[in-house]
Amino acid sequence: MSQRTFSIIKPDAVRKGYTAAILAEIEKAGFKIVSIKRMSISKAQAEGFYYVHAERGFFGELTDFMSSGPIFPMVLEKDNAIADFRTLMGATNPANAAEGTLRKLFASSIGENAVHGSDAEETAAFEIGYFFAGIEVK
Ligand code: CMP
Repeated sequence: MSQRTFSIIKPDAVRKGYTAAILAEIEKAGFKIVSIKRMSISKAQAEGFYYVHAERGFFGELTDFMSSGPIFPMVLEKDNAIADFRTLMGATNPANAAEGTLRKLFASSIGENAVHGSDAEETAAFEIGYFFAGIEVK
């Protein structure tokens, strides 16, 4: 069944000029790009997005990094989008990511790992609503 997920091309990948190459891989894998924009977020906005990780030791590093430069948040659609996008991304740590995955191809470390993808339906709904108004995701 058609499903939506939320993704971010993170500041490391944007800085390195990988945006178009990542989008090409996403389209090649069968995802429709429903909505996308380029923006920068504040540290407070990054903290709001990653609130579930607030107690983790890497929270400060993560939110500094995510507010360090432009990102491309986007909404993607396909059958089984949430699980399939996580497969396409590969493991959180690029050292463990399978060949051909976005993190194997484009990421450099567990913190600077090129892309984010929602992990469940509820988080996808929260994350899409955090970055996009309803009128942007029709
Ligand atoms: P993401 O899928 O965006 O969700 C949470 C992020 O926290 C994750 O990708 C990683 O980039 C980041 N993260 C997880 N573990 C660590 C860590 N040990 N050090 C720094 N960042 C981490």
